[in-house]
Amino acid sequence: SNYETILVEKDAAGTKGVTLITLNRPKALNALNSVVLTELIAAFAEYQADDSQLCAVLTGSGEKAFAAGADIKEMSEKAAADFYLDDFFSPWTSEIVKKTRKPWIAAVNGFALGGGCELAMMADFIIASDNAKFGQPEIKLGVAPGMGGSQRLTRAIGKSKAMEMCLTGRMMSAEEAERANLVARVVPQADLLADTLKTAGTIASMPPMAAIANKEMVNSAFESSLDQGLIMERRIFQILTASEDKAEGMAAFIEKREGQWKGR
Ligand code: HXC
Repeated sequence: SNYETILVEKDAAGTKGVTLITLNRPKALNALNSVVLTELIAAFAEYQADDSQLCAVLTGSGEKAFAAGADIKEMSEKAAADFYLDDFFSPWTSEIVKKTRKPWIAAVNGFALGGGCELAMMADFIIASDNAKFGQPEIKLGVAPGMGGSQRLTRAIGKSKAMEMCLTGRMMSAEEAERANLVARVVPQADLLADTLKTAGTIASMPPMAAIANKEMVNSAFESSLDQGLIMERRIFQILTASEDKAEGMAAFIEKREGQWKGR
């Protein structure tokens, strides 16, 4: 398969049954634009359909970022009607999360911010490098999480910490993320990929149908009424994109200056 923004390797580094998917826009800190989304959907569908591949790992290229969020430059040009009519962010859940029944792990190798944090939380679990940083900084752009952050982060780490993260936009270190149960394990950055591939190899060696069943069960404990929460979240996100502060927040980011807020 020929992708522009991601790399896909089956039986990665000789690990039988493990597909490695790498977000590959390092200059933009692997920001998630619509090409990435289309390609990730295709890559996950290919993984799901290939009986020889039994666990996947998603990581980011470069030393700095897993993904620094949805692509602000792309979003800054869209109107609220575009976000609403396209049900913007919906395919992350409907195509990638729901249709991938086989297990996959996020290997978070640096910044996982906004949509990057949300993408990591869509994985069955997260293994983080010791320099990883998690955050939902959307509030600083005049918006709010739009692909699961307010729902999955709250379920993962509880209301108080999730609320603080969303309201301040601050970043959480790998160590804090492990203490808060956001990640399964933290490993030194140099070991992240090898370690995650090894864990994925263990999963790939399990009876494949039992792996799907175990995943389905743990998810059902986590997901009751998550769908309602996610739809509500997207609607509010889509409405916020109509605000003056959204236009200002994104313009300020691109122009590398502080935003001036109107409160509307
Ligand atoms: C587009 C991005 C980007 C993003 C970084 N870049 N994040 N481009 N979308 N989310 C680009 C920068 O513009 C820059 O491009 C290059 O990547 C390197 O980033 P720098 O900012 O120069 O790096 P650094 O100073 O090390 O800072 C790293 C950072 C910062 C702290 C991660 O980049 C940052 O704050 N990024 C935005 C994080 C964020 O707000 N994420 C949430 C997005 S909103 P150039 O061309 O200048 O070299 C979201 C969901 C919903 O995810 C939002 C709805 C509106």
